[in-house]
Amino acid sequence: MIIINREDFPILNNDIIYFDNGATTLKPKCVIEAMNDYYYKYCANIHRGDYKISLEASNAYEEVRNKVKNFINAKSSNEIVFTSGSTDSLNKIVFGFMMNYLNEGDEVLLTKSEHASNVLPWLELAKIKNIKIKYIPLNDNHELTIKALNDTITDKTKVISIAHITNVVGDVRNINLISKIAHQHNIILVVDGAQSVPHMKTDVTLDDIDFLTFSGHKMLGPTGVGVLYGKTKYLEKMVPIEFGGGMNQYFEVDGKVEYKSIPTKFEAGTPPIAEVIGLGAAIDYLQTIGMEKIYNYEKELKKYLVSKLEKNPKVILYNKSTDSGVLAFNLEGIFSQDTAIYLDHYNICVRAGNHCAKILKDEINIKNTCRISLYFYNTKEEIDKLVEVLEKSDDLFKVIL
Ligand code: ALA
Repeated sequence: MIIINREDFPILNNDIIYFDNGATTLKPKCVIEAMNDYYYKYCANIHRGDYKISLEASNAYEEVRNKVKNFINAKSSNEIVFTSGSTDSLNKIVFGFMMNYLNEGDEVLLTKSEHASNVLPWLELAKIKNIKIKYIPLNDNHELTIKALNDTITDKTKVISIAHITNVVGDVRNINLISKIAHQHNIILVVDGAQSVPHMKTDVTLDDIDFLTFSGHKMLGPTGVGVLYGKTKYLEKMVPIEFGGGMNQYFEVDGKVEYKSIPTKFEAGTPPIAEVIGLGAAIDYLQTIGMEKIYNYEKELKKYLVSKLEKNPKVILYNKSTDSGVLAFNLEGIFSQDTAIYLDHYNICVRAGNHCAKILKDEINIKNTCRISLYFYNTKEEIDKLVEVLEKSDDLFKVIL
């Protein structure tokens, strides 16, 4: 059963079937209107103007910080840093915190199903510092198991940095248990929430998460805004990696500088004000539906999708058992991008390629797949259309050439 009013999403009037929600999500009217309101009615810089509209903008911005705090159940809004997205958040953690925290020989655990943003900063750090990046082996379904995690941890392991839900395999990691294991070994747990925060209830306090990162645009919000959550004790030790207006208390010609306290010291320059306000509207919208309802609905949709596609002998499924709305597939003997172009001919949007998870190929033995990533506005009728189009794909080359 569909759980929203699809008319809230103006782009759906264009008759598209949008299955690329792992890349970005569609935006409801309320998000677009919240940003327009800022531009039309109180467009001013924040934290620096002594006039009404600047105060209004500052208040709206800080209110969203509080909203994010409640949304992920952080203990304080000072633990919420606005960034430009997950990539920026992860870079800030790696180069602002881990750079000083890690010592020669320390080990960082990742998996091969992480997307680029949770691999490349670590590989770059390993070029600067003599640390070791290790990949926790995945099981035959390309999922992370607790046994593999336990077997990979050594007394040199200082950080585990993993997605809560991966962007191609779509496996949902047991963060609550992983965090307990990590903390028993004094390991810091970094959770990449880009594909999970938009789809399920996130509770950084209950799960005792040390750092969490996510992007606004994958959860109905605008592009250009993201969140870095860090426990106060870690943010107090993190240093800014960008310097400029807004984040400094004072500076002198002789080089004396003092930076503001957390979280402002990590938000150099004019922040994405309209985007933060849009993110606030997105959170309101998601909360009106309820994150549990969203998660359960997407799981139900994925089961439906798998049950239909399994009947098509031309379709190869790579992750049918994982508990999220992500499904990677190929048509037998067809290059994934050709399949995506074919589907686009019927206004069905899917992503094809390696999906920024470029080392996953070592695990699944295939470089490129098509990926369907569902969200709560998708329907069984849309899935039926996809299934029907894939069934008649014998004419694929006739259609795309
Ligand atoms: N990580 C994003 C995706 O999965 C870009 O498409």
